[in-house]
Parts: sequence; C-alpha cells; structure tokens
Amino acid sequence: MAEPPLITPMPAIADCVLPWDGPVSDTVAAIGAARSVCGDTFVVDSGDDRYLFLFSPVGLRHFYAVPEQQASKALADWQMLSRKLPDELFDGRRTLPHELFTRAQASGLRASLEAAISAQLAELSHGAEIDLFDFARRLGHRMGLASWGGREMLRSDRFEELTAALDALDGSEAFVAPARMRDVAQSGKAAEYAAMAKAEQILADTVAARRRPVGDVLDMILERWADAPDAERRVGVARDVILIHIASMSNLFAALGWSLVHLVQHPDVIARIRVRRGDDHDLASRCALESTRIGQRSIMLRMVLEPVTIDDGSRIYEVAPGASLATFLPLTNTSAGPGLDRYDPDRWQGSRLVAPSGLAPESVVTFGVGPHACPARPFSLTAMSRVLEQLFDAYELVPLFDDPRPRPDQIGGVARAAGSCRVAVQAR
Ligand code: HEM
Repeated sequence: MAEPPLITPMPAIADCVLPWDGPVSDTVAAIGAARSVCGDTFVVDSGDDRYLFLFSPVGLRHFYAVPEQQASKALADWQMLSRKLPDELFDGRRTLPHELFTRAQASGLRASLEAAISAQLAELSHGAEIDLFDFARRLGHRMGLASWGGREMLRSDRFEELTAALDALDGSEAFVAPARMRDVAQSGKAAEYAAMAKAEQILADTVAARRRPVGDVLDMILERWADAPDAERRVGVARDVILIHIASMSNLFAALGWSLVHLVQHPDVIARIRVRRGDDHDLASRCALESTRIGQRSIMLRMVLEPVTIDDGSRIYEVAPGASLATFLPLTNTSAGPGLDRYDPDRWQGSRLVAPSGLAPESVVTFGVGPHACPARPFSLTAMSRVLEQLFDAYELVPLFDDPRPRPDQIGGVARAAGSCRVAVQAR
C-alpha cells in the first residue's frame, strides 16, 4: 500500500475510522471521542485515506479560507457522492446550481415555491396523521421540481413516478447511510442506473411537451442545450435538472423537517409566527436557521491538491497532496459557546447569529462560510419560512412523538430523524 500523505509536524492519530470504511454506529460519538482524546487537531487514517480534522477557531478559519485549487471541495464532494451516483450524471453538465439563484431568477423561483406549497397544503385535511419528515420530503420534491424542472411538473400525472426514481437515485444516501455503499458498489449501482434512466425519460417527456418559453429556470437550461442534437439535448437537459435536484435533496427537506419538529415542540414560537409583526416579521426564517444549526450533521471536506499550510492557532502544519482537510459541524454547532445546546430562534438577528456574542463565523455554520458557502441559502430560507408561515396559519399540528433523535450513523448534510415524527393535523 502507498505511504499516506505527509503532515508535518504529525498530529495525534485518532483510533477510529470513517463509516464508509468500517463499522461506526454513532458518528458524532466516534469523532467526538477522538477529539476528546486527541484535542482540536488530529488525524484519522481510514481506508486508503488520511484526514486532518480541525476544530480550533483558528484552524477552522484556515480550513474555510483554503482556495479550491489548493484543496478542492468539488473533488471531495465527488469522491463522496460517486459512491452512490453514476459517473455519467457528473459528465458534461452545462448548468450548475450556482447559476440558478440570481437576482433575475428570484421572482420566478418565488412564484414556483408558492405554487408548490399551495399544491402540498391542498393535500392536507383535518384529522389526517402525517410524518413530518415524509411531509417535508414530498414538499422538498415539489418545491425543487417546480423551480428547476418546470412548474408544469406540479400537475404532471408522472410526479409520483419521478419522485420515486429520484428517491432511489438520491446521492445523499452516501452520507446518510454510508454503510450501505458497500452493497451499492457490489450491485454496480444497478438500482441507481435504472432510477436515473427513469427520471431522464420522464423529464425528457416534460421538456418535449413544452411548446414555448415561459421564462423560468428550465428555459435557461434548455437554452444551454439548444445547439445539441435532439437525443443528446433531451438527456443533457434531464441530467442538468437531476443533478441540481439531487443537490437540493441533501439538506433542504431535512432542515425543513427539523424546523417543523422544533416548532411543534415550541407552541409559543408558533403563536409569534402567526402574528409576525415588528421584530417578528422574519421569525420563520430565524426558526429555519436555528433548526438548521441544530440539525447539521455535515462533514466538511477538502481534498488537498497542492501543498497547504494550515495554522490551528497552536502549530503550523504542512499538508501534502492526497490528504483531506475535514471538520464536522455537530461537534461545534451546539457547543462552541454557552447556551448553544438550546433551541432559541431569537439568537439570530436577520441571518446573523448574535447570541452568544463574540463567536467567530466559522464556529457555528448553517449554510457554510467562505468561498464555498451555499449559493441556495436565500432560496432555501424563503422556501422554509413560507412553508412554516402558511402551514401554521392554516393548521395546528398535535405531536404524536416524544423526542425525535437524529440518525446516529449519518455523516453529512442535515440530520434525518431516527424514528417516526407523526403529528395529527387539525384545521384552525
Ligand atoms: C436548508 C438547505 C440547505 C443547507 C442547510 C445547505 C448547506 C450548505 C453548506 C453548509 C454548504 C457548504 C459546504 C462546504 O463548505 O463544504 C453548501 C454548499 C452548497 N450548496 Fe447548499 N444547502 C442547502 C440547500 C441547497 C440547495 C437547495 C441547493 C441546490 C439546489 C444547494 C446547493 C449547494 C451547492 C452547489 C454548494 C457548493 C457551493 C460551492 O462549492 O461553491 N444547497 N450548502
């Protein structure tokens, strides 16, 4: 086996592996235990890879500031997601998620979100029982597909078929259920290839049925493929839409799920959302930020391509190409300052965390910081806050759950719930 990439001086090596390389029943407990033993900077040698974990405030500042050409987030993401997704989905893309969330697209996206939320709320009825994460997942599909797959998708009789295919393809399983990736590899991604083909075919049919431009994101994607031969264009457009949608599935629905759970647990905050006057005009958005903070299970990874110097505040490390830099949000987001273990949407002023005061922006992360911060942050906060406002204006949700816990084996994205989160729906 090749020598692992050098890190000089060499920090302590933790006695653990990452869950795609060996059994880890609770990722937060395992990496948290490594940090307790080794301190804020340590190495994990896992499978064929070497990871330098950083948790000190100075170490985190350096982590988020490293330029992409020196230590790549794109390659680290690809390494993770390609355990689940077919390579063909990444090849030849002409539209990337970054390009969607421009000022020019904002009002069209907002209209698509409103249409999607209305369609979903129309399905709810007094006396129904729903699982909050199932509800959020379905709504996440609706909001996403209406936004980049064409609003006509909301009325399509193939919507269920398409979302079933996207659920089977779901790249986030690579970090939500990492141990399952061995089976995915053994099958040669057979289920994923079949799901991708199904989704392509349904999306290509939608595209073919669109007679004239309507000025939305799908038109923008179509334009990117205008010069390609028909068959190539249909697959290309469909794969652009699929990859954007897969990106949205990593976090949006789960953050919405926790926003709903936390609000059902805090009826006093729901009462304030219903009034939303004065300082509370943006309360729903602050609730979404607060639940995202608490729900974060993201491992942040950068694959080192050129030698990198990392200062953690105590020592300066030279990291050779081939290693990965890493940090893990659940170990900082709820413990970097006093009181962060509590749910409190009033700790946010607009989108700035103000309590506890004096924290570095890298210590508590919701949508990322630095050059790779999430381009879909405004879109996602609008989506989640509009759902919370509209849902709680119309309904009471009576909890039928105790205290939902996050899935313990997850290592990436916003937590999925370990068990069911059922509520009874009552019209107001
Ligand atoms: C609640 C919803 C969301 C949360 C909490 C979230 C969180 C994040 C975080 C923490 C990062 C930075 C990761 C890092 O530095 O390694 C990120 C980046 C990114 N997100 Fe999101 N995200 C959300 C929704 C979305 C959606 C809806 C899309 C696309 C449709 C999206 C696309 C992206 C992309 C493309 C990047 C990479 C940016 C870059 O590398 O320059 N996200 N997101």
